[in-house]
Amino acid sequence: MLAKTKITVIGGGHVGESTAFILAMKELADEVVLLDIVENMPQGKALDMMEAAPVLGYDTKIIGSNDFADMKDSDIVIMTAGFPRKPGMTREDLIGQNTPIMKDVAGKIKKFAPDSIVIVVANPLDAMTYMCKKITGFPDNRIIGQAGVLDSTRFMCFLGMETGVSIKNIQGMTLGSHGDDMVPLPRFSLVGGQPTPGVVEKDKLDAIIARTKKGGGEIVKLLGTSAYWAPAAGTVMMTESIIKDKKMILPCHAILHGEYGIEGLFVGVPVKLGRNGIEEIVEFDLTEDEKAALKKSADHVKEVCEIVDNLK
Ligand code: NAI
Ligand code: 2OP
Repeated sequence: MLAKTKITVIGGGHVGESTAFILAMKELADEVVLLDIVENMPQGKALDMMEAAPVLGYDTKIIGSNDFADMKDSDIVIMTAGFPRKPGMTREDLIGQNTPIMKDVAGKIKKFAPDSIVIVVANPLDAMTYMCKKITGFPDNRIIGQAGVLDSTRFMCFLGMETGVSIKNIQGMTLGSHGDDMVPLPRFSLVGGQPTPGVVEKDKLDAIIARTKKGGGEIVKLLGTSAYWAPAAGTVMMTESIIKDKKMILPCHAILHGEYGIEGLFVGVPVKLGRNGIEEIVEFDLTEDEKAALKKSADHVKEVCEIVDNLK
């Protein structure tokens, strides 16, 4: 008999519920558990999604729960629990509220799903991924942060809007921290197979890059809370590559040990994602300017991790 696949999504808010729904729609697991501390809420959302299944045609079983023991035997745990930004806030402003949540939840992941691969989504992503690793002690391949796929899909979306070219012909690559210091890489981002600097005029490309860097804030201003459909889509893409052992190369937060000249920090870099989680860190041949931008981004990650380390 084939082994059953199980994915737990912790946090049944905007990102968690959207992620669970897309996972079910794509039938990426036999079972999806939606866990939250709010009583009845994950159960209600799970039941609603189960009631949509006959119309949408998925057989994935979705279970809502407040019991962390229900994550037992999960292949993948997706950690979305935490406060989102409100207008005017930076991601770093969430450190005080979200670090205790991460410490608590990471301890429970270690206890109840010790063999799982963890995808961290909660913000500030750079620091929360680091904290998750610190508390769980899971090996490097099993702690992955989601940010680069989101930042890159925003980059691709804006390139598509500017050029009018089908989104299927656009590729984008954004490395570094999940914040204003992120590093979109135009040379590695393609429109119809050509690097963007040869296709999009410089001032327009600069504007697209600036918009990508502020992409999260643009949605917060419009919604009063942070984005969830694109973040969920990015998280599902990573999950799919792992569950189906697709070996996609995606920009994800991975702990580095000398790659790109960075030591002991979770920074967004291209990684190969397969059934063992991070199976390879791919090193691009960067220009001096690109390397300097990535170094600046990593320096920022280091500062944020130090703040988290020193929290009482
Ligand atoms: P939300 O407020 O809609 O949902 C958060 C959920 O977490 C709530 O339902 C809350 O009850 C739950 N929660 C709080 N403490 C918990 C605990 N100890 N155990 C289980 N559940 C708990 O927020 P939203 O919009 O879903 O965002 C979640 C987090 O993801 C935020 O920190 C946000 O900044 C971050 N985010 C990160 C992105 C990324 O690209 N890395 C993209 C979008 C959001
Ligand atoms: C974003 O970029 C909230 O970090 C999240 O939308």
